[in-house]
Parts: sequence; C-alpha cells; structure tokens
Amino acid sequence: MGSKSKIMDFVLEGINQVFDGGVVCDLFSGSGSLAGAIGQQCPVHSNDIQSYSKILADTYNKVYFDKNAPSSSKLIKQAERIVNKNRVDFIEYYSKTMSFNTFNNVENIQKKLLNHKFDYKWHLFSKNYSGTWWSYEQCLWIDAIRQVAEKYKNQVFYPAILSSLMFGMAYASQGTGHYAQYRDAKTQSSFRDILIYRNRSIKDYFVRKFDEIVKYTPESANSIQHSSTTLDYRDCLKGFQGGTVYADPPYCFVHYSRFYHALETLVLYDFPNLQVQRGSVVKGRYREERHQSPFCIKSQVTKAFIELFEGVKNSNSNLVLSYCNTGMISIDEIREISQIIFQDKRIELLTTDHQHMTLGRKEDRTRDVKECLFLIY
Ligand SMILES: C[S@@+](CC[C@H](N)C(=O)[O-])C[C@H]1O[C@@H](n2cnc3c(N)ncnc32)[C@H](O)[C@@H]1O
Repeated sequence: MGSKSKIMDFVLEGINQVFDGGVVCDLFSGSGSLAGAIGQQCPVHSNDIQSYSKILADTYNKVYFDKNAPSSSKLIKQAERIVNKNRVDFIEYYSKTMSFNTFNNVENIQKKLLNHKFDYKWHLFSKNYSGTWWSYEQCLWIDAIRQVAEKYKNQVFYPAILSSLMFGMAYASQGTGHYAQYRDAKTQSSFRDILIYRNRSIKDYFVRKFDEIVKYTPESANSIQHSSTTLDYRDCLKGFQGGTVYADPPYCFVHYSRFYHALETLVLYDFPNLQVQRGSVVKGRYREERHQSPFCIKSQVTKAFIELFEGVKNSNSNLVLSYCNTGMISIDEIREISQIIFQDKRIELLTTDHQHMTLGRKEDRTRDVKECLFLIY
C-alpha cells in the first residue's frame, strides 16, 4: 500500500534534481522500493517505524550470499522436520472437494486454536492466525520457517529468508492484499475463492522467492555502505546530516500498523497481546500496541508536517516530499508551511497522474489521483 515502485521514475526525477552528494535518507521506506531502485548508485539510509520495512530494505541492499549461505532446499528440510514434529493431530484439514458447510466447520475449529495451549515455543502463527488469513497448515509452515530463520539471525542473508517468507504469506493469504480484515466464506463463490488460497503452499512460494533473491543478489558485500533504522521520523532526522531526505509519509487515515500487523509480528515474533473489544479479541487479531501515525490523524497532521520540515532544516539536507491531492492535508497547506520554514530555499512542485490501489477484491480497485513532489533545495 502506497509503494512508489510504479512511479519510481517520477520520484527519481525529483531526487536527481536536488541531490548534491552524500546519503539519501528514505525517511518512510515502507516496501523499500527506493532502496531497491538506487542502492547500486549511492548510499541509502532506510527508515520506517515498522520493523518489516527494515527487513525489506536490507534485503535489497545488504544481503549477499557467499558459499556458506544455505540453499532453499536446506532451509526447507529443516522447516519440514519442525512441521512434522509440531503438527497436532486433532485438527481438521481442508480438501479441494469439501462442501461449503464442512469448510466453515473446519474454519471455526482452526480459529479456536487461539485458546489452545501449545507445548512448544515457535507456535505464534498457529495459535493466533489459524483459520484467518491462513490455514493451520500454512501457519505451521510460517512458524517453522521463522524458527529456522532465527538460527541465521546474525548472518547477512537473514533478511532474505524473512522477505521470502513475507512473500509466501502474501500469496497464500485469503485476504485482499493486506492484513486489516480476512474474508468470511458467506457465499458459494467466496467459499470457492478462499479455498484456492487455503490450498496454496507457503513452502513453494517461499522457495520461489528465495531462489530468485539468490539469483539476483551478489556473492559479496555491496561496496556502497547502506544503513537502516526503525525510528520515528523525528528521531531519525536528529541523527541525519547534510544529504537528501526523501519523505513519503502516509496520506490517509488508515494506519499501516493495522494493515501490516501480521508482518510486524512475523519479524518481531514477540507474542504480543491482541487487541480486545467488549471482552473478546477483535476479528483482525491486531497487536494491542500498534503505532498510530500523526500523518493519519486529522488533528495532528499539520504539526507532523511542521516537525518534518523543521527536522529536515536542522539536518541541513535537501528534501523531496511525496504527497497526493486527496491526502489528509491539502497541497496548498503543505506549500504554505514549507514557505514559512524554508525561507531561504527554492521550493518547486512536480505533479503526475497516478492510480492508487484501494485494496478491495472487487471492481473499485484503483482511484485516480495527482501525485505531487515538493522539491526543497
Ligand atoms: C506511503 S508509505 C511509504 C511507501 C514507500 N515509499 C514505498 O515505496 O513503499 C508510508 C510509511 O510511513 C511509515 N510511517 C508512518 N508513521 C511513521 C513515523 N511516525 N515514523 C516513521 N515512519 C512512519 C509507515 O509505516 C509506512 O511504511
């Protein structure tokens, strides 16, 4: 959601215009698309409040596979042993030919694993997410591959294992491209569609992406020094000096931490308390402590931009800011704030037409917007 990969040429046009050497700080790096686009050309510091984003940026720019790195088949063999050991035998499984009613019974049984007491440590997804975005079988594999990844935590290729697992989770998920809500099989057609995803193999998607990463990644370290953090943007700017900041903050009222909480939990694997409402865990099984971005809250967004501009000014950097004409604050208001704070800088505005994903599975999948780039240098 909000990835700039489709308009990367437009973003790079802006960055090229203001860049005068030094590090490019991608202050809200999200999917790491900028790190992927320019990491071979200049040093990038990727920052985002969400930990999964650091993993993605590091996969682009820090990972390399020397002869000691494990192959996908070695990783899968280890995971398979764990899956076979951990599988509980009372659970009901999905089949390609099952009926609507049997399917919904299985879904309910799997969801109840939330109350099951597991007698081994690496069971977070099996417990919290069976019968939601993923089946119990898929969750078993997610937990097992995550457990295997932990063995390689201090190795340079560790982010590639987790990124490949995120890819597998995305392709096997029955949701609509995010983890805010999973679908219920209320009709024959939604049941048939969800069943397709229930029968997908996390293992196969994991292997496919991991092998691709190995193929396109060098065998030795990138000669350019990249870095990454998971800080609030204000704290990140306090530690940055004299480069170019690319800022792509959230545009709308939905919090990334709600849409991608499952990725955050995968990376942190910290057994979070789940959000509770009126005595029950909420349907989306969100982490209780989720980041609430000031850019997504109407009463806080103006101050958030003031603090962004002041932080950039104090860091003696140039700024390229992405925003769109349907955001939480108008383009004119951003221009006015920037003119007050950057009185001695040139301020230019570039625009392009773009389509935002709405992340539904139905007709209204995109919305036409104007993407804007403020260049301040
Ligand atoms: C529009 S997305 C960035 C997309 C990214 N440029 C890409 O191409 O994938 C905005 C990002 O801001 C992050 N974010 C929100 N509030 C933040 C804060 N206070 N500090 C740092 N990052 C924040 C979100 O986690 C999200 O990944």
